[in-house]
Amino acid sequence: MSSEPLLRFGVVSDIHAQLADNGESLVPGFGVETFEESLKAFRDWGVDAVIVAGDLTDTGLVRELEAVAAAWFRVFPGNLAPDGRKVERVFVLGNHDVCGVRNGRHIFADDAALRREAIETDLPGVWRRCFGEDYGAFFTKRVKDFDFFCANWSPGVWCNGYAETACSGCEEAFGAKMAQCDPSRPFFYVQHPHPRDTVYGQCAWGVDDGSATRLLSRFPQAIAFSGHSHEPLTNEKSLWCGAFTAVATGALQGTSANDVWNRAETAGYENGVCNWYIPGVAREDRIHFMRRYDAPKTMPVEARVFDVRSGLFVSVYENRVELARRDFVSGLDLGAPWVVPVPAKPCDFAERARCAAPAEFSEGAALVAARVKALTRGVDYQGVHVPPETRPALRLDFPAATLGGHVAEYEIAAEGANGTRFATRVCAVGGLYPRRHPRFSKPEYAIIPLERILASANAVAVTPLDSFGNRGWTLEAAIP
Ligand SMILES: [Fe+2]
Repeated sequence: MSSEPLLRFGVVSDIHAQLADNGESLVPGFGVETFEESLKAFRDWGVDAVIVAGDLTDTGLVRELEAVAAAWFRVFPGNLAPDGRKVERVFVLGNHDVCGVRNGRHIFADDAALRREAIETDLPGVWRRCFGEDYGAFFTKRVKDFDFFCANWSPGVWCNGYAETACSGCEEAFGAKMAQCDPSRPFFYVQHPHPRDTVYGQCAWGVDDGSATRLLSRFPQAIAFSGHSHEPLTNEKSLWCGAFTAVATGALQGTSANDVWNRAETAGYENGVCNWYIPGVAREDRIHFMRRYDAPKTMPVEARVFDVRSGLFVSVYENRVELARRDFVSGLDLGAPWVVPVPAKPCDFAERARCAAPAEFSEGAALVAARVKALTRGVDYQGVHVPPETRPALRLDFPAATLGGHVAEYEIAAEGANGTRFATRVCAVGGLYPRRHPRFSKPEYAIIPLERILASANAVAVTPLDSFGNRGWTLEAAIP
């Protein structure tokens, strides 16, 4: 087994550099600092290339892209590492990068100025000015004899959250070239939306229209990287090993744990909001679901407010590809590295779930249940206003499930008379952090309005679940 990788590269996405209303500086906290830190970490690790899988900018403005380019050239002047090796840039555009005319009006009110400032107005010119290379809607790069196939998000195509068409055309652009690749060596594919029916399975937000999946399914050696959903890399379903390999990239800004794990439940988490994409429900009708499911919740939206900014360190060996997941805020790894064998071997979520150790509470852990008065949420982040009300509620306090596999959710359940069952879930906020992070082992809690729990139930149970849905041991307490 070779000890030195044949190729090393870093992967991040969703930088979302955001220009402030003054049109000059970046919004504090929405700059390029974490991106620059990630580049330094990649540089010091000895990468040959860096992938950014889209949404370099937030508003789609030239000044935002210039800030991203400046960070790159501060770390890699002349595209070189300090030891003189060339570091290849593998950056693709996401939906946010090509919507400047639509989204930048609050900064540049004047039409002509807005068009001048928007990246999409002159993509080839802007790209050449920022990075000194030609822009292509679809492009390839070759690094140390490994091929990278890259699809930019098409300007003028808006984001749906599902069946994204922005990278349609990748089959015609790349099919013939990929067919010439050596089937015994991996090649890499990069686009912003997730290839459909791969990472996160049926629950994924931000999947494409199936173009990339159709194309890559012909090439078992392909490894695809995609961003867009901002889902956390602690979710083991960020890796999909099927007809090819697909890897979600996490996000450098706005990681969100709200959507994927609990997509099967329309109401979402007690500490999250109801699902953003409900199959068959139009965006404008979503407000009714938020009113119905979110307004009565009595927990704050904690599944959206945590600070993890993640990326991947990829090492390509003769017989395997290793992917280490890193949080750039704490500098800690988010889980054990994934190892994809070469040649790749399909291994579906069910099989990986069977091999995974469930998340468990430690011995002696206890669940404490208490009656409290709690205020319903009332206003949610989309501006739906329902006056908050005080409700009798059940507060549950329990330790984090720190043993076994990485915890993803806690199920809260109660059994009533005649076998009826109430169950809901909270996102395991600590489980979004690296295992060695202090937040990982901080006690968790839930507050559930009593009216939702079966009147005939006299006990409540909390069960930790991993991201495959494996169940750990349950803690129980009497309802006081
Ligand atoms: Fe994004």
